[in-house]
Amino acid sequence: MCGIFAYLNYNVKRDRRFILEILFNGLRRLEYRGYDSAGISIDSSSSSDPNGQLSLSPLVFRQEGNIDSLVKSVYKDVASIKLNLEELFCVHAGIAHTRWATHGEPSPKNSHPQTSGAGNEFLVVHNGVITNYEVLKETLTRHGFNFESDTDTEVIPKLAKYVFDKATEEGDQSVTFSLVVLEVMRHLEGAYALIFKSHHYPNELIACKRGSPLLLGVKELSEDMHSGAPFLDLKFISENRHPKELFLSSDASAIVEHTKKVLVIEDGEVVHLKDGGVSILKFENEKGICGNALSRPSSVQRALSFLEMEVEQINKGKYEHYMQKEIHEQPESLTTTMRGRLRRGGSTKAKTVLLGGLKDHIKSIRRSRRIVFIGCGTSYNAALAARPIIEELSGVPVTMEIASDLVDRQGPIYREDTAVFVSQSGETADTLLALEYALENGALCVGITNTVGSAIARNTHCGIHINAGCEIGVASTKAYTSQIVVMAMLALAIGDDAISSQARREAIIDGLFDLPNKVREVLKLDQEMEELAKLLIAEQSLLVFGRGYNFATALEGALKVKEVSLMHSEGMLAGEMKHGPLALVDENLPIIVIATRDACFSKQQSVIQQLHARKGRLIVVCSKGDAAAVCPGGSSSCRVIEVPQVEDCLQPVVNIIPLQLLAYHLTVLRGYNVDQPRNLAKSVTTQ
Ligand code: F6R
Repeated sequence: MCGIFAYLNYNVKRDRRFILEILFNGLRRLEYRGYDSAGISIDSSSSSDPNGQLSLSPLVFRQEGNIDSLVKSVYKDVASIKLNLEELFCVHAGIAHTRWATHGEPSPKNSHPQTSGAGNEFLVVHNGVITNYEVLKETLTRHGFNFESDTDTEVIPKLAKYVFDKATEEGDQSVTFSLVVLEVMRHLEGAYALIFKSHHYPNELIACKRGSPLLLGVKELSEDMHSGAPFLDLKFISENRHPKELFLSSDASAIVEHTKKVLVIEDGEVVHLKDGGVSILKFENEKGICGNALSRPSSVQRALSFLEMEVEQINKGKYEHYMQKEIHEQPESLTTTMRGRLRRGGSTKAKTVLLGGLKDHIKSIRRSRRIVFIGCGTSYNAALAARPIIEELSGVPVTMEIASDLVDRQGPIYREDTAVFVSQSGETADTLLALEYALENGALCVGITNTVGSAIARNTHCGIHINAGCEIGVASTKAYTSQIVVMAMLALAIGDDAISSQARREAIIDGLFDLPNKVREVLKLDQEMEELAKLLIAEQSLLVFGRGYNFATALEGALKVKEVSLMHSEGMLAGEMKHGPLALVDENLPIIVIATRDACFSKQQSVIQQLHARKGRLIVVCSKGDAAAVCPGGSSSCRVIEVPQVEDCLQPVVNIIPLQLLAYHLTVLRGYNVDQPRNLAKSVTTQ
């Protein structure tokens, strides 16, 4: 979705070029959230008039295309209006936005900051969707406002101007920036993270949110600050006037290179940055934000927390693309996912799984009438891969729900259910709505996410972090394999420890310990997959057949290929082949069949026979040494990709990797942008 960013320096001199570069860099970090247009707003002058107002209105730059296009156009415009890049600011508040279009096509007028009109009295950058914008637009139009863009966002700065003008007309000259924004929030429905800048409140910024993520980063610049302390009282920040730099961002990746001290802003909060301080106001009755005039804001104090992320995680290192880096770092990400959670040996020699985030809820999950997995896209596929082992070890029936479909149907969710929400970002709007629905219906809600402090992590009763590290490539890769591993550990944790299943459980734990090595081994197929990509480069379409544990591999492999290489591909349940898809088979259409050793192996052999009989163009993923067993009539009849064999429930982790590599190479060879696929964005925070 969109990314929003802001930078405010206080009591420390920064020149205009420095400020611009900080804003551009923030946007580059967030570009994976949206990349069809971008914009910034900075001050035109550091000099103030006698009333303390900046003498000129803020400048706004907006551009269609990626961040580099914005950077070029800003420097061109800055030169043409003769702005001095060396001009120093002791305090300056700049805001920035990178967009993934929802309302209105990518164009400068639809880019953010959106403005209240001439003079840029109020400016807003927004991530999310305002669902009641049409009603607000009608009302504001009746009050004489003219709208220039096709966005839902434009109502927000205009509403702020309306509120401000009304207060001052009524003689309230002391209306503060936060009161204006609180009043604006009262009228907004939908999901949003917003940053406001205003000509009337120079050197101040306001941030607020409901639904969409937003963080504040605090960098103290004086020596005697509690620089090493992991937690710092916000009260201290709000009262001190020491030199500092403050950052607001949709996620931590744009903050971590400046500071690790952050505050995760919560729904309903209005964060006011002014005179070097930070104050937070919150509606007492949060539900009252939309229309409940009785709710009153109160001030809040919270501690800053410390980011665990390292800057290296957000750099590409030796790789050309984030997707490539994230595919190749899976041995390490899987190790981190399992760290401290698996026990082997010790005095009892027992092999066990410890999931700290679930420890008080394991019994309730075991006793639930049903486990419902809920997610979207790749996260849904990961849950599908884990479903059989959860059913096998726990004996609890498992059902699968695509989040949007559950909400559309208002499908049955009961108090006796455990609803497990799987989401890399922890912010996906569809999954969040499903969570709201499951909470209303009284289910025990478990979150499985990669983002500490995300909405899903905060709003579920308990959960497991997958600890895969920051995933920046829009196509999810390492998060998928870590999600499967987390759910395999969940199966072990909730499964009964009957003697009859002990050997199986121990084999899985041993398999988990060895998994990073097996993944290292399968990554050696990189070049082979590049060769295969060269063969498939001009194809229109690709089918992927899997079953059992690897039905998910078929869906996920096809999703990877279609979303980045833009080649049509479909993942199918092999058991369904003869019920329709077989009609597509001819000597031209490439078909990948997943046929590694497990209980379904002989059925997959028979699928291959049937496809071969129809002259299907076969590419078979099989266990090492099985080439002859899977190729009817010898190796000339099909191309074989041999992968290491692991425990059946962990095989999807190994099997997806050649398909991730294929998708990656196909995309590079076809000349498309791997990390920013057409029309897609990471963290889909709108419905
Ligand atoms: C595909 C992909 C998406 C996401 C989906 C859910 O590569 O990344 O299908 O899996 O948008 O996102 P999360 O997991 O953040 O809820």
